[in-house]
Amino acid sequence: MISFPGRNDVIQRVYDHGQGHIFAFWDTLSDDERGRLLDDAGAIDFALLDRLYRQARQSAPPTMGFEPAPYIPLPIDEEGRRSFMEAREAGIAVIRKGAVAAFVVAGGQGSRLGFDGPKGLFRAGPVSGKSLFQIHAEKILKSSEKYGVRIPWLIMTSHANHEDTVRYLSENSRFGLDTSDVYVFPQGMIPSLDTEGKLILETPSSLFKNPDGHGGSLGALADSGVLRAMRERGIEIISYFQVDNPLVSIIDPVFIGFHSLRGADISSKGLMKAYPGEKIGVFARFDNGAIGVVEYSDLPEDLQNQRDARGALRFCMGSIAIHLFGVGFLESITGGSALSLPFHVARKKIGAYTGNGTTEIDGYKFEKFVFDALPLTEKNIVLETRREEEFAPIKNPSGVDSVESARGLMDALARSWLRERGIAVPASVRTIEISPLLALEPGDLPASTSVPDKELVYLE
Ligand code: UTP
Repeated sequence: MISFPGRNDVIQRVYDHGQGHIFAFWDTLSDDERGRLLDDAGAIDFALLDRLYRQARQSAPPTMGFEPAPYIPLPIDEEGRRSFMEAREAGIAVIRKGAVAAFVVAGGQGSRLGFDGPKGLFRAGPVSGKSLFQIHAEKILKSSEKYGVRIPWLIMTSHANHEDTVRYLSENSRFGLDTSDVYVFPQGMIPSLDTEGKLILETPSSLFKNPDGHGGSLGALADSGVLRAMRERGIEIISYFQVDNPLVSIIDPVFIGFHSLRGADISSKGLMKAYPGEKIGVFARFDNGAIGVVEYSDLPEDLQNQRDARGALRFCMGSIAIHLFGVGFLESITGGSALSLPFHVARKKIGAYTGNGTTEIDGYKFEKFVFDALPLTEKNIVLETRREEEFAPIKNPSGVDSVESARGLMDALARSWLRERGIAVPASVRTIEISPLLALEPGDLPASTSVPDKELVYLE
């Protein structure tokens, strides 16, 4: 067995768990590299990994029965419109007192998009070419101005993209947001395993690890101290969204109003599934009464296709990963050891160092999902929203949920706002984009707005 001054306990633990192969290149490593490998090994929760490997080898455990979850539908009559107006008023009051923070999760690897760098740097604006981070930052800035408050922006990164993200935001002066209002912190990592349950080397002196999923964001908020900082700033609600959705309404008074009027711990936005096999999770109420999300891969085909008496899909409310979290609730689940979101297993190709460069092998990656927090609440609500107003995920280089589809949706939304305000768009206009600094909703567009007669129009 190898040894290293002061670290032999770590080495012993690695051997005890049958993972001694990670020291295969020990003889070629410098003392610094040996120290780094032992740091990686020392951080491992072997009991957890053993459990996760057993979980990966078993077929999925039987899950509880569930039915469609109740939700607040879009208004279709006077009463509905009145309750949305009341929610809006209540939400504006909460925002104005400075009780809301914005939280983007941007730690993903963006493997499908294949973009080199943090996804937030991806230029999504169809005319402006503005990056996702800039679009989000400008929405927050505009909301801050509109409601006369400072709205903190929390950004969760991963170890892989943290430095690049921090540098980009600083080089661009956080797009106008004050340094003291922007909190950037990395999420946790967890080692991947091969199909035999063995740890994988990424380099001779480091283990292959992946970010612990968007569900890792809740623990990361607490561990980074940002949750405490939010409490100290008087923040009551954290508005959670994904970095790759340029259409998201980050500070939405109606959503915030319903959350606070109904005393929810978590609120979620949902939208009508476009077709039964659409790859989004659905909101469900489990047999124990808890409301949560059933992943699309876990919804059997017969349930996907099931229809009610009126011919509508029964499991129709899809989750789009937009949530409000009560700060008090987050404190209650992250204080002590109460946060126990489960890990999900995905079989993936992993680049393993073999001594002869890197080889793709089959292995298991483990991730937490943020929607697993829903069933931990006393009360959570689901609010229906319109797809065309809120959801344009950029996942793929082309086709479904791609940059083209997102740019098309941004153009369509801009046109619908202008139509609502009775502002004409000349026929020559091929693509139009509205700067978040000009308007966050149709009512923000100045009455004097006019659209120039050219192909590409950016209203700012
Ligand atoms: P996705 O599940 O779409 O993953 O993340 P991804 O990494 O962006 O893309 P693929 O699957 O590799 O192609 C949804 C959101 O959750 C964040 C992502 O940054 C994105 O905003 N996320 C995901 C994290 O912050 N951390 C993670 O570990 C995983």
